[in-house]
Amino acid sequence: MNMILERIKTELEQIKNNHNLRKLKSYPENLINLSSNDYLNLANDLDLRTEFYETYKNLSLSSSSSRLITGTFPLVLELENKLKEIYKKEALILNSGFEANCCIIETFCNKSTLIISDKLNHASIHDGIINSGAELIRYKHLDLEHLESILIKYTNQFDEILVISETVYSMDGDMVDLKKLVDLKKKYNFILMLDEAHSYAVYGYGLAYEFDLINYIDFLVIPLGKGGGSMGSYVLCDSIYKDYIINRGRKFIYTTALPPINIAWNLFLLDKIGQFSESREHLYELTKYAMDSINELNLKTISTTHIISIIIGNNQKIEILCQNLIAKGFLVYGVKEPTVPKGTARIRIGLNPSITKEQLNLFFKELKNELDALL
Ligand SMILES: Cc1ncc(COP(=O)(O)O)c(C=O)c1O
Repeated sequence: MNMILERIKTELEQIKNNHNLRKLKSYPENLINLSSNDYLNLANDLDLRTEFYETYKNLSLSSSSSRLITGTFPLVLELENKLKEIYKKEALILNSGFEANCCIIETFCNKSTLIISDKLNHASIHDGIINSGAELIRYKHLDLEHLESILIKYTNQFDEILVISETVYSMDGDMVDLKKLVDLKKKYNFILMLDEAHSYAVYGYGLAYEFDLINYIDFLVIPLGKGGGSMGSYVLCDSIYKDYIINRGRKFIYTTALPPINIAWNLFLLDKIGQFSESREHLYELTKYAMDSINELNLKTISTTHIISIIIGNNQKIEILCQNLIAKGFLVYGVKEPTVPKGTARIRIGLNPSITKEQLNLFFKELKNELDALL
């Protein structure tokens, strides 16, 4: 008997019974997309795309090899050099945020390392930790006092302590107090890794850069698939760390590098990322507007950024709510248990400057109608 088949059949049944079965779907293009991670609308901006294709012609769509064989095209070096000019740190491009997080953690940490990680850090961070075999302690989400209590207890017991945080969190839409985190680093002298997946572009070159804290971040990871409007990730670190990844990082060494067309797009956007101030202004305004609407409707959120999670309750409610809102023209994404704690299944909205206040008004009106109907 095929036991794998038996086991996964039962598991899929269970997932379905919990209203948690994931399915791949595509949606009509005319929906108002409130689920996108394209926070500055860079990926979707046709004028930008046209300008790009006019600037870069006939670039290859595959690099056909790893960076260490023939995958390091002049454009890649140009991009890494430009990053170095901006951040004043060595830069290395990896194929995705997932790979960058995993690669850094599993390459530098081992069983003599203590990793202290925010409880809500991304799956890629968690996978890297598992692969590394390091000791793991998770601190309460964004609770830097809890982090400090762990540091007090363990600083003298481990020679190597790595603390990992994200800047903006994708499920709760809240933000780390980066200055306070850096103060802790100054006090306890741990190695600090920061993931800017949800803050890059929204806050220019990222929060660490904007707060002038780059020097205190040992590993700065900038995944580009969200506000960065692209694909791949930048890792900013000291040159010795970069050399070590090039020599020991399995997820860097043993994979086909990003294609030149993608590298060129990253370069093109990096040149412009300091611009887009109007888009940013509009995004900040939309965020405030959405928060006011949420308050007026007495809805619950703990978000403070352009990612807004509206807590609804259980998986079944979320399923019905999202289906109905999609039918009314709004593409919204439900986050269910166990991805989020029991009783906090939610609608997650990712705002971007292509959305108008009028569209938000319509959305909140329909959301209210649907919630009333669910009671
Ligand atoms: C915080 C965070 N880090 C890393 C990743 C992975 O980045 P990528 O999509 O580039 O693999 C994601 C989500 O995709 C994320 O939310």
